[in-house]
Amino acid sequence: MWSDLESVGQARSGGYRRFAWTAEDHTLREWFAGECARRGLELTTDRVGNQWGWWWDGPGTVDDAVAAGRRAVVTGSHLDSVPDGGAFDGPLGVVSALAAVDRLREAGVRPQVPVAVTNFVDEEGARFGIACAGSRVLTGQLDPARALALTDADGTTYAEALRAAGRDPDDLGPDPQTLARVGAFVELHVEQGRALVDLGAPVAVASDIWPHGRWRFDFPGEANHAGTTRLQDRRDAMLGYADLVLGARHVATQRGCVATVGKVHVTPGGVNAIPSHVTGWLDARGADEEQVVATVAELTARGEEMGATVTRESWTPTTRFDQGLSERLRRVLDRDAEVSAPVLGTGAGHDAGILATAGVPSTMLFVRNPTGVSHSPAEHAEAADCHAGVAALADCLRDLTTGGATTGDGPQDGAA
Ligand code: GLV
Ligand code: MN
Ligand code: MN
Repeated sequence: MWSDLESVGQARSGGYRRFAWTAEDHTLREWFAGECARRGLELTTDRVGNQWGWWWDGPGTVDDAVAAGRRAVVTGSHLDSVPDGGAFDGPLGVVSALAAVDRLREAGVRPQVPVAVTNFVDEEGARFGIACAGSRVLTGQLDPARALALTDADGTTYAEALRAAGRDPDDLGPDPQTLARVGAFVELHVEQGRALVDLGAPVAVASDIWPHGRWRFDFPGEANHAGTTRLQDRRDAMLGYADLVLGARHVATQRGCVATVGKVHVTPGGVNAIPSHVTGWLDARGADEEQVVATVAELTARGEEMGATVTRESWTPTTRFDQGLSERLRRVLDRDAEVSAPVLGTGAGHDAGILATAGVPSTMLFVRNPTGVSHSPAEHAEAADCHAGVAALADCLRDLTTGGATTGDGPQDGAA
């Protein structure tokens, strides 16, 4: 599976450019459909375009099982990437989910609830600006009308991109029917920091996600000649932007948060023209929600003083994963592991967090990343750790779908 994916959307940097509803995304979606078909998993696509591959050998259909209180245990992640992203962020969770299903079947496990593998669409928000758009619309946390009006860097709207990908934009909307099938969600993900390296463990269980959001700062200016315009006559949009970049670092440092301006658009973008407009995007996060809010408030006030219009594009408060579920998985992993599984929080956003907010018992497993680097081609995971991740995920799925003997919980417990 890994070698199938290796070349899809690979950039010259060695990283990946796999953006929602592009040709690369289409190839990845076809690949996912093929992997489901090969395994006899029933493929469904929800109103948003998220893909689900269902494994249910019990009596009746998946919906019959759900009606009888046997809601599914779901695992998976996303296949899209940030610009020049690593190979693991997203795909490791999808590939591991499929591999874990294989492992359970080889071991003759008969789940008492349906199991599904998912590919969430547009997790990174790299093209249209809102992260986890697929799970947000699915769960009603992003208004479909707002999503459809989003534009990419070329001015293509989300609606146009859907149409080009063969989907009807009118179909886009929350999908409570699909969501009602989900009893529990476990997303495996490459770790995006170095905690597991320091702790000497290959796999961790997640506890929570830091509050995080994205803000757009539009600085106005006036285009003019870089040589003939006196300094005192200029209205240079870049100055406000520069203040935002330095301010973000300064205020975040003071408040114990992190803040990043990783994307900028300059108009008209000529070396010898004074910028008439600069748009910068701020990403702010931190362990303490109040401090993140205060950081953004300070930067907003500072930006407005420089003439900026500030628009919040997304905001996700602190997300706590289901404690009972996380603890149950930690116990499962501790049962056979040489090194007990640490419990880690993360500063990265994930579809699992969006599902958790929607009330789906959710948690994550993290796989050690020796570089500690992510959203970069340097992101990595050793094959042995990836296999440990698959084994851990399979153990967790087995426990959740068959009511692991050591927990004493019924099979529907984690899926309730
Ligand atoms: C998603 O990877 C994010 O946290 O930006
Ligand atoms: Mn990511
Ligand atoms: Mn991810």
